[in-house]
Amino acid sequence: MKNFIMAIDGPAGSGKSTIAKILAEKNNLTYLDTGAMYRMVALYFFENNVDLDNDMEVKINLSKIKMDIEKDKFILNGKDVSKDIRTPRVSGLVSFVARIKRVREKLVELQREISRGKNVVLDGRDIGTVVFPDAPLKIFLIASAEERAKRRMKEYEEKGIKEDFEAVLANIKERDMIDSTRSEGPLKKADDAVEIDTSFMTIEEVTDEITRLVKEKTGE
Ligand code: CDP
Repeated sequence: MKNFIMAIDGPAGSGKSTIAKILAEKNNLTYLDTGAMYRMVALYFFENNVDLDNDMEVKINLSKIKMDIEKDKFILNGKDVSKDIRTPRVSGLVSFVARIKRVREKLVELQREISRGKNVVLDGRDIGTVVFPDAPLKIFLIASAEERAKRRMKEYEEKGIKEDFEAVLANIKERDMIDSTRSEGPLKKADDAVEIDTSFMTIEEVTDEITRLVKEKTGE
């Protein structure tokens, strides 16, 4: 297997990152969490009070961002922000940042660069449609908004973050709406993606199903 690309797209909280991590481990792939990259930009813009409507400000601040990604450690200008990017505050801002064309262009380029010459699984919104439209395996994960909010609540609880279920659900619905209606790289199932509804499936069932598809594609 050489330069194998697996694209996993889907809405907020559909289980992409959990599934992608396991698949990476099982199939010896590099995992790239592209949502974390948008979250890093959102965090930087928030901390530096960037006016999202001011293109010059966006451009200048974007050029000041240096991202280093080591497995699931996310380093923003030398600082480990792995925890800071998962807060409700960043979740509240990220979709507004991710709809800016300039931001998407920079991150898509970076995602292609990081993946060059490797066997990779990437998760996001536009991997199968924009970043790697020729990926041999594309998965589109979905689940009901309520189920996704429940999963996110559980993650917050594990991290000791207190959040209200209704607020989490509202954020998920809001992000789905912004992500799927933006003009650049909207959340959309690629025509050749395999859709899997994970609402009533265990993590193991989902990973088994995708592993079967990997074997089918690679013949390994
Ligand atoms: O983990 P969760 O499902 O909450 O979302 P995420 O994958 O961390 O992505 C956070 C946000 O980044 C999304 O709601 C999108 O606005 C944006 N994003 C994007 O626009 N394109 C991607 N390829 C990945 C994320």
